[in-house]
Amino acid sequence: MTTIAYNQVPIPPFMYGTAWKKEATTRLVQLAVASGFRAIDTANQLIHYDEARVGQALKALESEGIERAALFLQTKFTSVEGQDHRTPYDPSADLTTQVRQSFDSSLSHLGTDYLDSYVLHAPFRRRGLGKADWEVWTAMEELYRAEKTKMIGISNVTAGQLAILCEQAQVKPMVVQNRCFAALAWDQEVRRICQAHGIIYQGFSLLTANREVLVNPEIRRIAQALGAGVAQVVFRFAMQIGMLPLTGTTSRQHMEEDLAAERFTLTREELQTIEAIAL
Ligand SMILES: NC(=O)c1ccc[n+]([C@@H]2O[C@H](COP(=O)([O-])OP(=O)(O)OC[C@H]3O[C@@H](n4cnc5c(N)ncnc54)[C@H](OP(=O)(O)O)[C@@H]3O)[C@@H](O)[C@H]2O)c1
Repeated sequence: MTTIAYNQVPIPPFMYGTAWKKEATTRLVQLAVASGFRAIDTANQLIHYDEARVGQALKALESEGIERAALFLQTKFTSVEGQDHRTPYDPSADLTTQVRQSFDSSLSHLGTDYLDSYVLHAPFRRRGLGKADWEVWTAMEELYRAEKTKMIGISNVTAGQLAILCEQAQVKPMVVQNRCFAALAWDQEVRRICQAHGIIYQGFSLLTANREVLVNPEIRRIAQALGAGVAQVVFRFAMQIGMLPLTGTTSRQHMEEDLAAERFTLTREELQTIEAIAL
């Protein structure tokens, strides 16, 4: 199964996230691909990610016969506010130059000549979009038009910001990546806009942001009846309501369990129960 954005580019249905893996990044990316993940998420932001170590894993995988084209690679442009002193661009340059330099450095870290998806890590302000956001987005649109990336997207975005972007951008985002809180009806407002525009919604922290859901007796009952784990039920729920989940697991067993969530189906009633748990 793949998920297809409005520009007809497909993404594998489950994404492996590489945040906070540090020196284990290379080993874990190799393990994730060996377990069956085909989509990898990273960012050119050394505080939380290590793109170069993802690149080392890709090199090793290629020597084992897993070619670049078989994988979906997504990385992000992170503004100076989200970086420490190790910015992957000249922080005094204009934003268009920063995006170009960051993108080129991502290609070099990952050992590739194109990306599948390039994401703005976060808008510069909490509400609305300002001049800086538009300058960065325009630079990303240029990368898309030049076919250096198959998709562009935005992360940590509010429904209001996404609506403005969809209305005013020359190229609408193909992906949105947000932390998904069950208490916000699993980010329903943002997901609704995504659905209306054919944008793929990627949900992260599905487990870590929703600890109250994981211990809820109703979801436990659903999991038990299916012979599945609660984490699997959350991931399957996410897929069935139209999300593309991310997992950042460090365990081989959990990688296999997370991917196996595709193998069972929740009923409409079960989906409604889970949807309402934290409301
Ligand atoms: N755009 C952004 O600003 C942003 C922010 C945060 C994250 N992200 C992306 O999203 C990715 C995932 O982040 P995340 O926050 O969702 O995940 P995460 O924090 O890396 O954690 C997933 C947690 O769930 C556990 N887990 C996974 N599968 C499980 C299973 N089957 N049973 C029990 N526990 C399980 C993991 O434990 P084990 O390791 O023990 O399995 C881990 O503690 C990141 O790596 C990054 O790529 C993006």
